[in-house]
Amino acid sequence: MSYLLHPSGGVLYHLRAWRWRRTLWTPFHAEVSAWLSAWRPKSPHLVLIGPSGGYALCAEFLARFARISVLEPDPLARWLLRRRFPSAPLHWDGGTLTQTGGFGRLAAAFPDAAFLFCNLLGQELQGQAADFNRGAWLAELEVALTGRSWASWHDLVSTERAPSSRQRLCLHHAIALEELLGHYWLGGRLEVIDHETASICPAAPRRHAIWQLAPRRYHLIEWLSAP
Ligand SMILES: C[S@@+](CC[C@H](N)C(=O)[O-])C[C@H]1O[C@@H](n2cnc3c(N)ncnc32)[C@H](O)[C@@H]1O
Repeated sequence: MSYLLHPSGGVLYHLRAWRWRRTLWTPFHAEVSAWLSAWRPKSPHLVLIGPSGGYALCAEFLARFARISVLEPDPLARWLLRRRFPSAPLHWDGGTLTQTGGFGRLAAAFPDAAFLFCNLLGQELQGQAADFNRGAWLAELEVALTGRSWASWHDLVSTERAPSSRQRLCLHHAIALEELLGHYWLGGRLEVIDHETASICPAAPRRHAIWQLAPRRYHLIEWLSAP
């Protein structure tokens, strides 16, 4: 039951998807589609981590893989994902990703696979301990997945203030979060929820886009990928 009521997914998220995915969410999903079509891992095995009902995914992308392992604790999300993509080769899996060493265990559990983190790294996670330290957890990602194909889109910050610009931004490496926020919100006071993901792979190229989750809820998203 707790999976269905979880703050980073669950019933509220599915209701929002039903309400907004053909309107407010469409521009951001077009952006994710472009990111996914440019990401070309060689492995025929994909691990999807936190895809929910697959609202940001498309059949063309999933059709590139012969096997798709899915780590998604929400049973309603799994049911919706299967229903949205009936011919995709989906296999449900589990794991202890949120504990120390989680990325290393993930790499070892799927030695031949590419990994796609579907807006998971900045979320409150199932299995997250009370003293969970996101910075320490994420610091292990780059080393644990060295030499592996992986990609992630994740929240950097979210806010109730509408951005001044929704232009996509491509950067050769990370810049200071305040500088990045200045590209999207000009002047004035800005209150944000920091999703504590700004430190991931600082030297890697990255892309940014705005996702309007709800009429008064805006997320600044980052996309990172390793071939
Ligand atoms: C914000 S939602 C993902 C959004 C979704 N990818 C989309 O594009 O619409 C976060 C998802 O992560 C899942 N999740 C939470 N904890 C997880 C964990 N420990 N491992 C894998 N998935 C998890 C939630 O059930 C939820 O579906």
